[in-house]
Amino acid sequence: MEASAINAELVNDSVMLYLDDGSHYELPNLWLRDNCPCDDCRVVQTQEKRFMLSDVDVHLAPQKVSLARDILRISWPDHHQSLFSVASIQSLLKPPKQQNKPWPKGFVPEPFDWDSFLNNSTVAIGALESFMQFGVILLKQVPRDPATLEQLAPMIGPIRELLFDRIHSVSVEGHVYNIAHTSLGLPPHNDFASYSFPPSVQALHMLHNEVAGGDSIVVDGWAILEQLRSDHADYFQILCDFPVAFRQFDDSNETYAVAPMVRCDNMGNIVSLRFSNQLMQMMSPLQSGIKQFYRAYHELCLRIADSKQDYRSTFRLQGGEIILVAAHRVLHARESFQPTAKRHLQDAYFELDNIANKLVLLKRQRDSKNG
Ligand SMILES: [Fe+2]
Ligand SMILES: [Zn+2]
Repeated sequence: MEASAINAELVNDSVMLYLDDGSHYELPNLWLRDNCPCDDCRVVQTQEKRFMLSDVDVHLAPQKVSLARDILRISWPDHHQSLFSVASIQSLLKPPKQQNKPWPKGFVPEPFDWDSFLNNSTVAIGALESFMQFGVILLKQVPRDPATLEQLAPMIGPIRELLFDRIHSVSVEGHVYNIAHTSLGLPPHNDFASYSFPPSVQALHMLHNEVAGGDSIVVDGWAILEQLRSDHADYFQILCDFPVAFRQFDDSNETYAVAPMVRCDNMGNIVSLRFSNQLMQMMSPLQSGIKQFYRAYHELCLRIADSKQDYRSTFRLQGGEIILVAAHRVLHARESFQPTAKRHLQDAYFELDNIANKLVLLKRQRDSKNG
């Protein structure tokens, strides 16, 4: 049961709202005016805000404030009235729910059947929830035709197109523009660190895997960073601050970005890790802070490369399987292989916002059917 409001009064440039549990909220005048929920201040059909803050003076103050039955009524000098339910204000105070969960010991990506994922909304909801929580799932019984990844678009799309190709083909034959197109081992990384906003979701589709070696590895980058933050807060902060250059190119493409490896939101939650040994560029050795950066980066590399850490899962991606990774969190890697047989992988990129949207829609549909 939420506390009820018992009094409201003007204090300086805010309205103080007092609750029966002894707490109070300070509601800034400009916040109150900007968020007026009335039909004049909103686009009625879409619920979008229409009122523009520039229409009032910065020192605007209510003429009168009153409270009745948990409705706060603000009367403005121009006779406009704003009515707020106290419950609607309280609902804003709850922190947003964190969907991501740590990997349990011995974690392997949860498998889902391809056809069911695409055609059965209950399976799709389970798969997308698992994906949002752990940052990676496995799809099985996937057709081995090239460009099968296009069929994911209605569920998790649209595809985010990047340079080089719409569907990227990774094999030792064909267009070689990075280490992935060799048989060398690939250390954990995320793709397109050379974009200022790298793709947030990557689907890796194994069409054929007949080689010896080449096991797939996924690493929970955020878990490694959290551990680094608790062991060496100073290193973590350097990685949040120090800009690093990344480049990916070939004869007809040139992508380049300079950004810190770690990005946090204003609450300090990790939002993304940008990590690509292969795309990282030489930086000026005279740059201020570079020595400290390299100490921090060395520690991060040790932890990412550690094959015995708990935040790593190794498995063989078979022909006819896809792993879907939340690429700002989960790094992918591959062991070296013998290039004497066929190994063909394709990948395409998507955005996490669109997956979050799809999950909300699927749940809404389910609930309206059940309701
Ligand atoms: Fe990659
Ligand atoms: Zn209004």
